[in-house]
Amino acid sequence: MSARRSSHAWLDNELNDADVLPERRHKARARKPLGRRRIESLTADPETGDAADDVIRFLLDRGHLTEVVAELKSGKEATAYVARGPRGSVLLKLYRDLEARSFKRDGVYREGQVILDQRAARAMQGRTRKGLEMLQAGWVCAEYAHLWQLWRAGLNVPEPLVGPEPSEYAQTTPAVLMRLIGSEDAPAPRLSDASLTPEEARSAWRQAVQGMADLLRLGYAHGDYSTYNLLWWENTVIIIDFPQLTTRSNPNFQQLLRRDAESLATSFRRHGLTETAEQTLREVQRRALGPGPEPRVLLP
Ligand SMILES: Nc1ncnc2c1ncn2[C@@H]1O[C@H](COP(=O)(O)OP(=O)(O)OP(=O)(O)O)[C@@H](O)[C@H]1O
Ligand SMILES: [Mg+2]
Repeated sequence: MSARRSSHAWLDNELNDADVLPERRHKARARKPLGRRRIESLTADPETGDAADDVIRFLLDRGHLTEVVAELKSGKEATAYVARGPRGSVLLKLYRDLEARSFKRDGVYREGQVILDQRAARAMQGRTRKGLEMLQAGWVCAEYAHLWQLWRAGLNVPEPLVGPEPSEYAQTTPAVLMRLIGSEDAPAPRLSDASLTPEEARSAWRQAVQGMADLLRLGYAHGDYSTYNLLWWENTVIIIDFPQLTTRSNPNFQQLLRRDAESLATSFRRHGLTETAEQTLREVQRRALGPGPEPRVLLP
């Protein structure tokens, strides 16, 4: 294992068994692995007000959520639900249980990260149950940490709704809570599904390239950047899906950046855009040298 430091300081801190509440640890071991959860198991029983799902009950008890409204979309690693919380409409992203996830995409993105705790590193490498739990928590915490950083930096990303302290959001594993883009009845479509006029398509393209440049200015490649991970709402492009963001400490960085430029260009073809991957990458690099967005001021 290389001696370079992890770019995610929280990762080195989040691996302590003692950080997981004992009652959650027990419950997590006692139940069967879950893939996609059915909405009925997530909504509270009208008689008792209790939710059948452990994670949802925890989120309700802690006041992060008041209700799960509908399932929105089931993806490779997680299912997205529309929910409600104390501050309005929530997008609840619920990662599949450890055993139901492949972590196939994990290695290439985590290369170059260093886990200082050798026992933790071995557990993750060996895919023991403990190791899988650590990978899961790492994946969820990475999404929150990136959301917080990018939101603060002024990028168009959904506002994270738990945190900003890692000790707060680490507890919501395997869920990530963020502001719902769009409305409960009509959540924002992905750019891959939106129908755009030629003018809107141009604007969406410019914003998508600018978004990728803004990430690069902060030292990141998204790792899965295409119209499938860009939402379109009120003529604005919002970037989503951040667990796999990588930094220059990853030896695959340039390759991932190039691949992002390529998927962006290819996925925009259906909107009539014809830029090549090379042109896209050059434009991203040029804009990354220019000014970035205004940072957001967070109210206490
Ligand atoms: N903040 C949000 N507001 C509205 N919709 C959202 C938001 N975040 C995610 N979504 C919707 O949920 C879907 C899944 O989210 P995301 O891409 O983060 O998860 P994923 O498991 O990686 O999905 P996939 O495997 O399809 O990429 C998105 O395609 C989008 O339609
Ligand atoms: Mg996605």
